[in-house]
Amino acid sequence: MINEQLQEYIDLLIPARSGVLAEMEEYAKEHQVPIMEAAGIEAMLQILKIQKAETILEVGTAIGYSALRMAYALPNAKIVTIERDEERLAKAMVYIEKAGKGSQISIIFGDALETEKQASQHGPYDAIFIDAAKGQYKRFFEMYSAFLKPGGIVVTDNVLFKGLVATQDSPNKRIRNLVKKIDDFNKWLMSNPDYDTVILPVGDGVAISVKR
Ligand SMILES: C[S@@+](CC[C@H](N)C(=O)[O-])C[C@H]1O[C@@H](n2cnc3c(N)ncnc32)[C@H](O)[C@@H]1O
Repeated sequence: MINEQLQEYIDLLIPARSGVLAEMEEYAKEHQVPIMEAAGIEAMLQILKIQKAETILEVGTAIGYSALRMAYALPNAKIVTIERDEERLAKAMVYIEKAGKGSQISIIFGDALETEKQASQHGPYDAIFIDAAKGQYKRFFEMYSAFLKPGGIVVTDNVLFKGLVATQDSPNKRIRNLVKKIDDFNKWLMSNPDYDTVILPVGDGVAISVKR
């Protein structure tokens, strides 16, 4: 997103994770599980800490890496996380138990397009983190922001999609369609009168939206 050399410099300054988090990073790399990029997650955690978020909803658990990062960074926060992939969720449960964070993280198994009711039961939320199917970002935002407190924050990952939103030059039609959807979402989000949004060029592009 920024100059590659600079990104590498920043990444090297971020302290390496240890224990279960390091194990998860290794697993994610080995099994091609997409977890949030280091600089992106650091930016998100910093914002959640400044906000002192106590209730957080995550859309897209994968193996539970970002949920655990949030649990460690905000030990008093309750985290609710939604995932539809059974195998990834099983892995997430193992890691969350291993980290001793089972009582801090609640898991909802299902398609986030259909888990509104369960998520609402744990709300309202101080923050919502959207990190699931990119083509559905607008739907997720519209559905779950209903459970956000006034002044609450929505963090959306991958909004710059490896820079493709600016260059729009992928040879792959499926990717081009996805880029168009993210571009449409970004335009919709930036002009949404109910939110103040800034797009940070960290990681894969992180949008921070504050509910008015
Ligand atoms: C990028 S990964 C999440 C990474 C995780 N937030 C992290 O940084 O550790 C996206 C996850 O969202 C899940 N997902 C995609 N669409 C979904 C949907 N409609 N409902 C529930 N989960 C979904 C995928 O199965 C995948 O595991």
